Amino acid sequence: MDSQDVKDDLEEVLYTADEIQARIDELAADIDRDYADKDVLIVGVLKGAVMVMADLSRALTSHIAMDWMAVSSYGSGTKSSGVVRILKDLDADLMNRHVLIVEDIIDSGLTLSWLKANLESRGPASVEICTLLRKPEAAKVQIEVKYVGFDIPNKFVVGYGLDFAEKYRNLDCIGILAPHVYQ
Ligand code: IMP
Ligand code: MG
Repeated sequence: MDSQDVKDDLEEVLYTADEIQARIDELAADIDRDYADKDVLIVGVLKGAVMVMADLSRALTSHIAMDWMAVSSYGSGTKSSGVVRILKDLDADLMNRHVLIVEDIIDSGLTLSWLKANLESRGPASVEICTLLRKPEAAKVQIEVKYVGFDIPNKFVVGYGLDFAEKYRNLDCIGILAPHVYQ
């Protein structure tokens, strides 16, 4: 689905499919360089990070392992609750491994700071974070993020994996959701 298919629901397209792909290619080059002599396990956070994982992993030029985790921090609303629940845990043992968490978006940062601490408690060699989007104005906790695709305004966005009430994940671009859709 593209922006034309949902044009009445979007206030603005922030990043086109091509712009997203170009930025992901740059992030992949950074990751390839930083992990050149290390085995890395990339951990995708379901469901939002599915598109980022698919494109980022294919842009990497070296071998990686992939695993998935599902956590829940929201219902179907648009505000973070800070309450994190593990819906699906990793299959992999993290002992002595280099872990890279891949996220779609950091809003308040509450989900990721909880997740990072949780994974760090499992004995990994390192835990770093890669997020496609970050909302600096929404930060409630400071969290060190090694790879950031784009810093965006504090608006609710959808597309490229990001949903509102499970819709728009299959939109090929990232857009600001028009308030009339959720108000
Ligand atoms: P945080 O705990 O506030 O950082 O929330 C992180 C999670 O909330 C993300 O992984 C998303 O699933 C969801 N989220 C935060 N902001 C947005 C948004 O603008 N659009 C869609 N989902 C969002
Ligand atoms: Mg998410």
